[in-house]
Amino acid sequence: MTNDSTTGTGTDAGAPRNAWDELPIRDELRGQSPYGAPQLDVPVRLNTNENPYPLPDALVDRIAERVREAARDLNRYPDRDAVELRTELARYLTRTAGHEVTRAHVWAANGSNEVLQQLLQTFGGPGRTAIGFEPSYSMHALIARGTGTGWISGPRNEDFTIDVDAARAVIARERPDVVFITSPNNPTGTAVDADTVLALYDAAQAAGPSMVVVDEAYGEFSHHASLLPLIEGRRHLVLSRTMSKAFGAAGLRLGYLAADPAVVDAVQLVRLPYHLSSVTQATALAALEHTDTLLGYVAQLKSERDRIVTELRAQGFDVTDSDANFVQFGRFADSHTAWRHILDRGVLVRDNGVPGWLRVSAGTPAENDAFLDAVRELKKEHDA
Ligand SMILES: Cc1ncc(COP(=O)(O)O)c(C=O)c1O
Repeated sequence: MTNDSTTGTGTDAGAPRNAWDELPIRDELRGQSPYGAPQLDVPVRLNTNENPYPLPDALVDRIAERVREAARDLNRYPDRDAVELRTELARYLTRTAGHEVTRAHVWAANGSNEVLQQLLQTFGGPGRTAIGFEPSYSMHALIARGTGTGWISGPRNEDFTIDVDAARAVIARERPDVVFITSPNNPTGTAVDADTVLALYDAAQAAGPSMVVVDEAYGEFSHHASLLPLIEGRRHLVLSRTMSKAFGAAGLRLGYLAADPAVVDAVQLVRLPYHLSSVTQATALAALEHTDTLLGYVAQLKSERDRIVTELRAQGFDVTDSDANFVQFGRFADSHTAWRHILDRGVLVRDNGVPGWLRVSAGTPAENDAFLDAVRELKKEHDA
């Protein structure tokens, strides 16, 4: 889908904006905007934290083979419990994330957005609340709204790290049912250390008990080890992951969680039957067979991310430390105007609405060069 919105609020349905005002929709949805990062047709698209590398030919061939096999059985519903896929995801986590898990600890869905939705359907909902420390991934609040869960916006420090004392205080006061901790955080790129997660977990158990969801969508890009080992002995801690970023498979729509098996059992109460198609399961399994090649791209992206940080700082920008495949930079008196200037030079970055800041995803070296040239010109004009 391509829409021509530059505001990030467009849909492609063709109806005049807010035509739904006349529909009897739920009160809490009225006047709200859908999620919508602009999908513009420009030469360099660095706005949605995608992996810029197309899948290698050998993997494309393997996907075709696996999907062909699956196609024969499309007259049947898929494996409802995705047993083979969860087994392979558990093997991947065990090998790369520093803690042994089995398929009983792992659940998969259509993107980590669906994982998060299932968690909020299970542990949030009407009369309950969730908290996130903002700015953070905007879908946490949107999925909360969609599931009828009240949303609490928690504080961050000036440098975008989590203020542990303030976070503990708001958890004790508000007693949320679900606590989101995003590490590395989107859009800032900042990682959260294990001590902070444990402090918030303990606060949430004292106030709740509530579920703590660590969203590690960008975990593979971090300088720090995964927070997966923290699930051991903590039944209310969930780690959420995705194949959209490190595996370069945003189009696949495959996210997963790791947690105590009781959590996996609990989300069965809300998951739609046969939610994960046979084609999705076959494709994800093929991608997992090529893990080592795909993690090679992650290493390249990490080094490009570090180059972007260094060069932006050399150009005189403020840059937030990044553990993700994107970089937050500023500060701009008017970030939307700066965003527009960069776009006019053929490079699409993200204006997340964090005053003074923009976010750029690490692309290929050529794309990053184009971005760095665009901001160099912007800076020159501004300083002239
Ligand atoms: C922090 C975070 N979590 C989750 C997601 C959702 O990813 P997906 O639904 O593609 O797995 C994103 C996507 O950008 C993200 O930034």
